[in-house]
Formats: sequence, structure tokens, C-alpha cells
Amino acid sequence: MRKPLSLIAGAAVLGLALAGCSTGGGESDPGNADQVEVFTWWASGSEKVGLDALVKVFNEQYPDIEFINASVAGGAGSNAKAALASRLEANDPPDTFQAHAGAELTDYINAGQLQDLSSFYEEQGLTDVFPASLIEQLTVDGAIYSVPSNIHRANVTWVNTAVLEGAGIDPTKAPADIDAWIDDLQKLKDSGVESPLALGTEWTQMQLLENVLIADLGAEGYSGLWTGDTAWDSDGVKTAVDHYGELMKFVNSDFAGLEWDAATQILLDGNAGYNVMGDWAEAAFVQAGQTYGDEYTTWPTPGTDGVFDFLADSFTLPVGAPHEQAAKDWLTTISSAEGQKAFNIAKGSIPARTDATASDYPAYQQTAITSFADDTVVSSLAHGAAASISWSGDISSAVGKFGTDKDAASLVSALVAAADKALG
Ligand code: GAL
Repeated sequence: MRKPLSLIAGAAVLGLALAGCSTGGGESDPGNADQVEVFTWWASGSEKVGLDALVKVFNEQYPDIEFINASVAGGAGSNAKAALASRLEANDPPDTFQAHAGAELTDYINAGQLQDLSSFYEEQGLTDVFPASLIEQLTVDGAIYSVPSNIHRANVTWVNTAVLEGAGIDPTKAPADIDAWIDDLQKLKDSGVESPLALGTEWTQMQLLENVLIADLGAEGYSGLWTGDTAWDSDGVKTAVDHYGELMKFVNSDFAGLEWDAATQILLDGNAGYNVMGDWAEAAFVQAGQTYGDEYTTWPTPGTDGVFDFLADSFTLPVGAPHEQAAKDWLTTISSAEGQKAFNIAKGSIPARTDATASDYPAYQQTAITSFADDTVVSSLAHGAAASISWSGDISSAVGKFGTDKDAASLVSALVAAADKALG
């Protein structure tokens, strides 16, 4: 059944605002040192399964500390980030919160909302266990501000093998580029699959556009979008916007109201051939009892082979965290080999630590581990690595509007305006 989770999420935000406290489990009590209030958007379904795996290790490592779950539903933090901003504004920070490595984290650092964790890194010997390129995304002016829990990949196309085979398409072979993919989408449609490409709410649309931009501009051209080296009204961007418009002709008509898991469910149910989704979707396939390489498979989104569209979740120590020591204990669990293994196996992601053993991980994650090591790494737009919260918010609104008016020229102008505002 398709669940409009955004409605549930809206109710969760309202509930939080009214109650002024965390959801689930107990409530945060600043006077009680043996608690840690952890803010994420891993509130339900397969995302909560990942969080639960991490909490299990935390409970083993710190049995005397009570975990307070302050999650706010809504994929990609679509509701959580606004709820968090209100709390930070009101000087009511949780003990630690989820933030994406890269531009999004820099927003919090520049606002003076985070404590420097450099000495924590030294005490725990963490400087060498994470890739230097990732630490760079957590660092401003030589100070390191968060601890990464995982690395996700955002340019993954999930494929229902039986649906493709039903239309005479070999599911093991990715189309070479977006044009070839559009030909296969048409074949699926002609064979009776009404909406061959499963799509969801606004941020999933932005994620699809991000994939097409990588396919059409290449890694270097795409990365240049964030520095001003690639113009947002260049021919490459216009081609990508046209391709994106073509892809939108193959999506389910109720896309605007569906959270990512409801969109992925369409594929799981055999009602679509493809879904472009970050690899947290792996956890949903596992939860549904499907086997990688059997009922479903994945490829890098057509045209993006050789590129790893990167994002990482990380956890912070906010200024004014009521339970600072317990927050550091949480960060210790997250950074530990044991915590990373339990979490990432359950979450569909790969460990941020470089000393993990690939063979400990399921088949999908092994492909991601190889790709992260060998491919060109670019930063995800929809997941905070490439652009500030306000810039990605502007792009997201423009993409959402396109979902209704399908006006390519107006989308390109809005993208240009958003870049001008962000880059000055
Ligand atoms: C991303 C986050 C992932 C996953 C996903 C869907 O932004 O980094 O861990 O939660 O959103 O909600």
C-alpha cells in the first residue's frame, strides 16, 4: 500500500513543536547525566532498522546511558532539518544530531552551532581511520566538527528483474546512456507497464535530476556546477533538463505525495522496472526478503558508470548539548569498528572507516565498496554534500515546480538564479 509519509512526517513535526521534546522512548532531562538525546530522520521502516542496529551496539558499550530517540520522519531530512533549525534557534539543541558531510555541515559550523571535535579525534585515534577526503568535508579552518557513521551512494538505479525480463530486456546490462535508457522505458511502457520509472516526493525528483546532470555533464562538468566552473545555462545542463523531462513521462502519476520508501515499494511490488534511489533502498529490499541479483539488481544510473555520487551521514556535538559526555560516548560507538559494521550492514551503506573488511558485507555493499575505491567521487546535491541548505532548497523548489508545469526554460532560469544567489 502506498503511504503518503510526508503527511505523517508533518504530524511528527507538529507533535515535536507542541511537545517541545523528543519522540519515542523517554524524554530528555538535562539534570540526568545518564542520557543521550540523538536527533535523526531515521524514524521508521528500513531506516529505523539501521538506527536500531547502532543503538544495540551503543547499549552494549554503554549500558548505563539511556538512548532518547529524537527522530523526525521524512526522507533526506525533509522535515527534520527545519525542526532542528527551530530547536537550535531556541537554544534547545539535542545532544547530537545527524548532518551530512560537506556543504550542509559547513552551514552549521559557520553559524557557530557546533563544537570542535579535534581533540576527540586525537584521543580516539580517529584521524587515520577515515579517508582524508572525507575528513576534509568535516573540517573548517583546521578544526574537525563531526564523526561520520557511513557513506551512501546516490547514483544507483534499482531494477526489478522480472519486470524487465517480461518486456524482453536483459536486466543485467545497464543502458549506455540516458537516451538508451529512455528507449528501454518506452519498451516497458509498450509491453504494458504503465509507469516503468518509480518516483516520489520533491527531494527524490531532485535526486533524479542530479543523476541526469552527472550522466550528461560527466563528473568534472557536474562538480563545476558547485564552484561556478560549469554554467547552469550551458548546453549540457539544458540537455539534462530535457532528458529529465523525458524521464518524467514514464513516472507514476502520484509521485508528488510519495516518500522514498513508498516509491521504492512500487518497484518491490513489480509495478515498475526502475527506481533511482540512494543505497538506503538496499535495506528496504532486504527487509522485504528479496535477494540481490535475483528479484532485483542495481547499476550505476545510465551514463554515470565510473562515478560514485557520494554522501555521508555524520554526527555532531552541538554547542550547549545538555549531556556532553554521553554525546561523546555516542560518537565513540559510531566511530568504533563494531558500531560501523552493525550499522552499515543494516543500512545499505558502506563503512566510513577504511579498516573494514569488504567480505563482511552483503553483495550490494561490496559493489559500492569497490566503486568508492576505484571511481571518480562527486558530491550529492540532494544529500547535503554539494550545496548549502538554502541553495539545495532553492533547487528543490524549482524542480518541484517543474513536476507540475513541465516548463524546461523556466526550470533552467530558476537554476541559474539559484546559483547566482548562492555563489554571488
Ligand atoms: C539521506 C541520508 C540517508 C537516508 C536518506 C533517506 O539524506 O543520508 O542516511 O536516511 O536520506 O532518508
